[in-house]
Amino acid sequence: MTEYRQGIGWDIHRLAAGKKLILGGVEIPSEAGLEGHSDADVLSHAITDALLGAAGLGDIGLHFPDTDPRWRGADSTTFLRHALRMLRERRWRVVHVDSTVVLERPKLAPHREAIRRRLAAALELEPECVSVKFKTAEGLGPAGEGRAAEAHAVVTLSRDA
Ligand code: C5P
Ligand code: MG
Repeated sequence: MTEYRQGIGWDIHRLAAGKKLILGGVEIPSEAGLEGHSDADVLSHAITDALLGAAGLGDIGLHFPDTDPRWRGADSTTFLRHALRMLRERRWRVVHVDSTVVLERPKLAPHREAIRRRLAAALELEPECVSVKFKTAEGLGPAGEGRAAEAHAVVTLSRDA
């Protein structure tokens, strides 16, 4: 028998001039980037939380506290790799990742395949198993006003009995 679990993740980071915009480990050319203790990769953070959530392993702040100087400026794909190791120790396999980034600008669609490839490499998946979608917030709320970027993610895990 195969057991399946799903996990959900969400994150938000402030946008600020002069910061890098890194999404799924890919640096996107942009006037504004994301603020945070690590590299502020909101998409990798949401996916990490979804992975941890599916396995009942708490959340990103439990494993990578933003008070820990080790994670200052950290490449957030490290968090994905660490979560993957923890899942594998418990015999979980990642089946699929779906995600949405909410950001007013710039257009992210031209970077979709690069982001998928980078996330798939971190999670040791085929790019077809990683879905990345983009939405504006139609001018509404912090993301819509260009003050923040949000990310949502769902993952599916499987484990053979
Ligand atoms: O938010 P909206 O429905 O207007 O987005 C339309 C399309 O624009 C999305 O499906 C997505 O492919 C693209 N998009 C993008 N970069 C963004 C927001 C949306 O490429 N920052
Ligand atoms: Mg974050």
